[in-house]
Amino acid sequence: MGYGKRSKKEKIVFLEGSNLILRPLEEKDINRRYLKWINDEEVAKFMITGTFPTTLKELEDYYKGLNKQNNIMLAIVFKKNQKHIGNIKLGNINWVHRFADLGIMIGERKYWGKGYGQEAIRLLLHYAFSRLNLNKIILGVYANHKSAVKAYQKVGFKIEGRIEKIFNLDGVYIDKIFMGITSRKFFAK
Ligand SMILES: CC(C)(COP(=O)(O)OP(=O)(O)OC[C@H]1O[C@@H](n2cnc3c(N)ncnc32)[C@H](O)[C@@H]1OP(=O)(O)O)[C@@H](O)C(=O)NCCC(=O)NCCS
Repeated sequence: MGYGKRSKKEKIVFLEGSNLILRPLEEKDINRRYLKWINDEEVAKFMITGTFPTTLKELEDYYKGLNKQNNIMLAIVFKKNQKHIGNIKLGNINWVHRFADLGIMIGERKYWGKGYGQEAIRLLLHYAFSRLNLNKIILGVYANHKSAVKAYQKVGFKIEGRIEKIFNLDGVYIDKIFMGITSRKFFAK
């Protein structure tokens, strides 16, 4: 194939696993599909961002306002059908102490519970530790968010801290747990 003849459908791959591709999140991805995920009560149940209604304009502003120097947002794409099913992020990267937060949202609910969350997290951790030379990845999660806690534990995160009864979930106060994993632990697994 000569130059200029590249198919429009040529796939952009940044990180690749057996079922998923992680690629840069682009402006065209800030669309009604993403808006649907954020506003879906089930998807946003354990996310502070979903508490208030979000408009497309707000999503666009959030995306534009992300400082690319210390935030890396990737689209999670299902390889078989090339569907964009969610996003994963390394946020607030601290280049001095070499740590960052991890955030993930698989917005297409039928893709839950099939190991794809773990696959996306593993791909991102491998990238964070091997290519970015980060030392530690941390996150905070509702203590009763079973699928998330299990997925994080299965890739090697350990519970390192807890704030008791901080999140309101339908009138019940829930603990927030903090989890972390170091590069050494990730590669020792
Ligand atoms: C949290 C999330 C990323 C998990 O992704 P996922 O693809 O469903 O997770 P995985 O299938 O890789 O792993 C989940 C594990 O928990 C298990 N699980 C699911 N629901 C469970 C439940 N209610 N109780 C116990 N275990 C449960 C799954 O069986 C799986 O374990 P297994 O690998 O031993 O079978 C995804 O559900 C999501 O994006 N949710 C919406 C946004 C969100 O909450 N983000 C995280 C904020 S901290």
